Amino acid sequence: MLAGKQIILGVTGGIAAYKAVYLLRALQEAGAEVRVTMTPAATRFVGIDTFASLSQHEVAVEVFPDGQHTPESWTQHITWGEWADLFIIAPCTANTLAKVAHGFSDNMLTSAVLAARCPLLICPTMDGEMYNAPSTQKNLEIIQDFGYHVLEPEEGYLASRLEGKGRLPETEVILNKTKNILSSKKKVDGPLTGKKVVVTAGPTREHIDPVRFISNPSSGKMGFAMAEAAKKLGADVTLLHGPVSLSLPDEVSTQKFKSAAELFDLVKQHANADVIIMAAAVSDFTPAEQHDHKVKKDSASTKLELQQTQDILAWLGEHRKNGQIFIGFAMETDNLLENASKKRTKKNIDWIIANSLSDADAGFEADTNTVHLIGDTSTEKFSGSKRAVAQKVLQYIFKA
Ligand code: CTP
Repeated sequence: MLAGKQIILGVTGGIAAYKAVYLLRALQEAGAEVRVTMTPAATRFVGIDTFASLSQHEVAVEVFPDGQHTPESWTQHITWGEWADLFIIAPCTANTLAKVAHGFSDNMLTSAVLAARCPLLICPTMDGEMYNAPSTQKNLEIIQDFGYHVLEPEEGYLASRLEGKGRLPETEVILNKTKNILSSKKKVDGPLTGKKVVVTAGPTREHIDPVRFISNPSSGKMGFAMAEAAKKLGADVTLLHGPVSLSLPDEVSTQKFKSAAELFDLVKQHANADVIIMAAAVSDFTPAEQHDHKVKKDSASTKLELQQTQDILAWLGEHRKNGQIFIGFAMETDNLLENASKKRTKKNIDWIIANSLSDADAGFEADTNTVHLIGDTSTEKFSGSKRAVAQKVLQYIFKA
């Protein structure tokens, strides 16, 4: 599966560094050529010579190694970055994660990350409390926004003798993720090849105060399925998603939003995309006033004043450029086709995918769906798993 693939394995200074030796062997057994870069701290856990002899290649640690002053050594991080098909950092300490999130290049590993032109797979590994620390969680969000792949650590017995989330996943798990990333990197030749497709998914949250919000039960499943289906047709996909508990699809750039206003800002940034699919369940209303502090019930009013949010799809329809295709969703309980069709014309969009909440196999949380795809001149009905429905809809629209 990995025959001919060139992989940089970055090892950082944590107790799990010894497990990177097994990972190196497993990658080689799967056919990959592996080069290792270690942070100076990692060399305290495993000897450089172990990785050098197994990889049969010099191990890079410092950008300015003592005694080596050749033009090749000055640009080694650049040539390695160009060489790799994939860069794995396993284990990745909180310290290296922070450096990667903020663009530091103070050793060979972090410099090669900046120079890399390939996908990155980061395996955060640390004590449970360090993993849960707000700064670590924020840094994980940042690197996921960059489009880096993150393999979540496993729960279990940690070196600190505490139980928690922070263990490096088994070699097999990292290997499977590696194969996944590298196989999905294959260039697809489809009707959306070369096209930029933006998909929005999941619910919004409109906060009343830090502990209360208005939202809806959208799971994000349909939007995620649309993103995967667009990817399969060859598109360069950006998925904008609200708070959902779904695994992020491979080879798709992702950005998070919480409120309708945040989503509107993101959509404006991507408003030039060739295709925009609005599957997000955007709140139509937001509290007129948002409190910074928790509102105490004794002082709270029993009435909540609301104001309308921006209709993002209608804004796109108003600002459309030649050749753009906009696809919306309509969730209705009554007069499905009539109401959905009106929304399509009113919002000046090309296609609307109408869902009826009264269909037994459809709805926010379900894995299946029945939809009516309404266009200018035709209406088609599709049923099946949300994945299958997403594929059928996009194949129909783009005549795949
Ligand atoms: N939508 C949007 N911005 C909003 C509300 C909805 O872009 N503020 C988009 C949704 O993502 C969806 C489509 O508009 O693609 C239709 O959403 P829906 O909630 O069904 O319709 P509304 O326009 O909100 O109308 P109503 O709630 O009155 O049915």
